[in-house]
Amino acid sequence: MTSELVVRYFHFLGIFFLVSAMVAQHLLIEAEMSKKQFIKLVRIDAMYGISALIVFLTGMTLWHAVGKPAEFYTGNFLFHIKFTLFIVAAVLSLPATVFYLKNRNFSGSHIQIPKKYLMFLRVQKLIILIIPALAVCMARGVGLN
Ligand code: HEM
Repeated sequence: MTSELVVRYFHFLGIFFLVSAMVAQHLLIEAEMSKKQFIKLVRIDAMYGISALIVFLTGMTLWHAVGKPAEFYTGNFLFHIKFTLFIVAAVLSLPATVFYLKNRNFSGSHIQIPKKYLMFLRVQKLIILIIPALAVCMARGVGLN
């Protein structure tokens, strides 16, 4: 029981940090950014990545190792939609991360952020609004075959 409570706690903590990093990126990101702003964005993106990893690892543990039997989720189509949306959001976050890491020491005073990264961030925000609805349903067996 204790291990499940600990894993759940870190699942939520990971979600809180992930959403905070997403909102911070949303408030900070602009088509043209100063070096100071861009370095802040790169750091926030690192926090976004680490918290997504914590959410994923605790989610996998809740699915396979602690709490309800794995079948409770494996047999639930809402869970699979949740899992797929999470993977889609993670994949959509990668191109921006590569761009940030490649340009973190750029020369000059300002940098242009490709518009597609702003659009990818918007899709990730939409996904983060949907996932909790799927989570509370699947947790109560709604969607179970
Ligand atoms: C941003 C992504 C995610 C969010 C916002 C999220 C949200 C939640 C929420 C709100 C709950 C509690 C549901 C409740 O007790 O009513 C939960 C539980 C859970 N989540 Fe996630 N989750 C995310 C990602 C994941 C991933 C990637 C996995 C699997 C790899 C996962 C697996 C689980 C499992 C197995 C539970 C336990 C459900 C239960 O109590 O039966 N989650 N999640």
